[in-house]
Amino acid sequence: MAANKKLLVLPGDGIGPEVMREVRRVIDWMDRRRMVRFDMAEDLVGGASIDARGTPITESVLAKAREADAILFGSVGGPKWEKLGFDMRPEIAILALRKQLDLFANLRPAIVLEPLVDASTLKPEVIRGLDLMIVRESTGGIYFGEPRGIETLPDGQQRGFDTETYTTHEIERVGRVAFDLARKRQNRITSVEKANVMQSGLFWRQVMTALQQREYPDVELSHMYADNCAMQLVRNPRQFDVIVTSNIFGDLLSDLASMLTGSLGMLPSATLGAPDAMGRRSALYEPIHGSAPDIAGRGIANPLAQLLSFAMLLRFSFGMEEDATLIERAANNVLASGLRTADIMAPGTAKVGTSVMGEAILRELDKLTA
Ligand code: IPM
Ligand code: MG
Repeated sequence: MAANKKLLVLPGDGIGPEVMREVRRVIDWMDRRRMVRFDMAEDLVGGASIDARGTPITESVLAKAREADAILFGSVGGPKWEKLGFDMRPEIAILALRKQLDLFANLRPAIVLEPLVDASTLKPEVIRGLDLMIVRESTGGIYFGEPRGIETLPDGQQRGFDTETYTTHEIERVGRVAFDLARKRQNRITSVEKANVMQSGLFWRQVMTALQQREYPDVELSHMYADNCAMQLVRNPRQFDVIVTSNIFGDLLSDLASMLTGSLGMLPSATLGAPDAMGRRSALYEPIHGSAPDIAGRGIANPLAQLLSFAMLLRFSFGMEEDATLIERAANNVLASGLRTADIMAPGTAKVGTSVMGEAILRELDKLTA
């Protein structure tokens, strides 16, 4: 059995806590089987933290996050906190975690599982077997660039502005994550920007090109404008293997890519920091879906994206490839058996709620390890 690993669980708001509950059951199951023992702590973020502590994330939670080997994050936000103003947004919790822990590489897979091939709004022949990975830069660009603000001009008008900015280092480090991933996949990268309009896009293209020539001559690199990429993702998504792009384009394109698969409720993500001298890297895992306040508390949310985020955590933070695969197989088998949460319902399948889906996963895990 592996030694204690420090895990920080941050369920957040909306459906976060209810889907996290099902993941905790899987963690308990693994614990009972002595597959892994976590040194686990749970804490508040987002609206839950605003309500209890008056801030979206406390310094103490950030400190715990820095200490943790891995963070399992739920989701934050909801209408309840929308009127509190820009500095009290629940979203600050995830942005602060990314920025302060320097979690710069956001990995967002879009995978179509065979049992769900009909859940997409796209034709099965377009998406069957889809397996692409978006690597989104997540600590730079227009999300954090200065100057930014809203100012009043001499003529009394106002002006709102943000700054898209990338340094060589920022582009290279996310590029390396993408190139390294590509080597374990189909060895192809599409670097996405707007080099036809933006200086920062032109620079992005130059840096990626030089990086490929210098360090990754064996990996195939192509470039694509972001608008064309959005179109190509819908037209023929299987042409892509790894997409690497900036914070804002990655935000947009990953939402688009996730919907190719038919359900936001199925997709996990990982956000990785740089390895330190000991090879240890901070990492945060979260579902792509948000807090879904419209269905929160009704016991109908799909827990699979949160569960698959945990599988990614096992794989990327702890090298537990077999256990990660076991969980992924359990999810796939349960879907193949015909159980569906409301978001992925299809004719001829059985609709179940969050905890029945969780229960089915546990039974499947029992079966797979019997
Ligand atoms: C995401 C979300 C966040 C982002 C929000 C919640 C700040 O949309 O993770 O994609 O824009 O990065
Ligand atoms: Mg987003």
